[in-house]
Amino acid sequence: MHKIIKVAAAVLLGLAVSACDKSATSTKGTIGIAMPSKTEARWVSDGSSIVDSLKKLGYDTDLQYAQYEAPTQLSQIENMMVKGIKGLIVAPIDGTTMADVLKQAKEKGIKVISYDRLIRNTKDFDYYVTFDNYRTGVLQGQSIVDKLQLKQGKGPFNLEIFAGSTDDNNAHVVYAGVMSQLKPFIDSGKLVIRSGQQDLDKVATPNWDGAQAQARMDNLLSAFYGTAHLDAVLAMNDQIANGVVSSLRGVGYGTGKQAMPIVTGQDAEISSIKSIIRGDQTSTIFKDTRALAEAAAQMMDATLSGKTVVVNDSTSYDNGSMIVPTQLLTPQLVDGNNWQKVLVDDTKFYTPEQLR
Ligand code: BGC
Repeated sequence: MHKIIKVAAAVLLGLAVSACDKSATSTKGTIGIAMPSKTEARWVSDGSSIVDSLKKLGYDTDLQYAQYEAPTQLSQIENMMVKGIKGLIVAPIDGTTMADVLKQAKEKGIKVISYDRLIRNTKDFDYYVTFDNYRTGVLQGQSIVDKLQLKQGKGPFNLEIFAGSTDDNNAHVVYAGVMSQLKPFIDSGKLVIRSGQQDLDKVATPNWDGAQAQARMDNLLSAFYGTAHLDAVLAMNDQIANGVVSSLRGVGYGTGKQAMPIVTGQDAEISSIKSIIRGDQTSTIFKDTRALAEAAAQMMDATLSGKTVVVNDSTSYDNGSMIVPTQLLTPQLVDGNNWQKVLVDDTKFYTPEQLR
């Protein structure tokens, strides 16, 4: 009797498993999602938001992070292709090394969307979705111009620039936006870069790594700011801003005698909003990753089902092989005056408890 029950249970279990299998195969297929790293909170949110958006549209997902190792990301994508993905959403670590793997994807009929970061030097992908990176740079530059009241004739002030990673196309575009605002004041002498380090290759931070930014700030402070006061730091994202602020605190900035410089950022990470509330960091750029994820998922679904894909820019993003059809979302400046309204009240991106 006991045995019969066991057999019946096994049969029922078998039926249940095959029912699950059936529902799994009745989805619209699997979409691979290749994200750069879990180092920044933003990519963790992007990944889970893309999964949520794709699931709602009826897809399975395969989400992978590559710890900023470009070869790891390529082999993750190869594995996804072996497993039979129908589409790929990729935020490339090194945008210039994707051509071979995407050639294979194209041959297999896999639809590919370049996510947040531009894939370069190949035609073998379909669309790009990102926040307006030039605008991000403009907002960062303006934050410095406004807070130092440069347009009201104040100055001269000392500035240092900390940009992102040169293998990421965004660093180049954001830098151009930044310079559109700061260059006139550098040229007129109202902004002085005591280190003389101004070109992107001189001010870049590999992998946008906060620790490397901190080490570079340590060097600059000891070499060029023994007695001089640093008034502003263009930090291209929040990780970099964190490193810069730690370095500045280490030599006494942010205490009564020595005011913190203006420090910009990008991503509206929780630690940076807390830093803004404390008065260490001055501003950041909010890019609602939930909206970017949803846009990417909608794009993927539209292209896989042969529907019209929404793009709003067909001129700005030349990747070296083609002008990429792009959907641009709008970034927003967040500072001590508006963080509560933008991040908590209007968008519910964070709860008040998360920022306490
Ligand atoms: C993204 C930024 C991010 C940076 C580092 C850039 O491509 O646009 O939001 O801070 O990468 O991960």
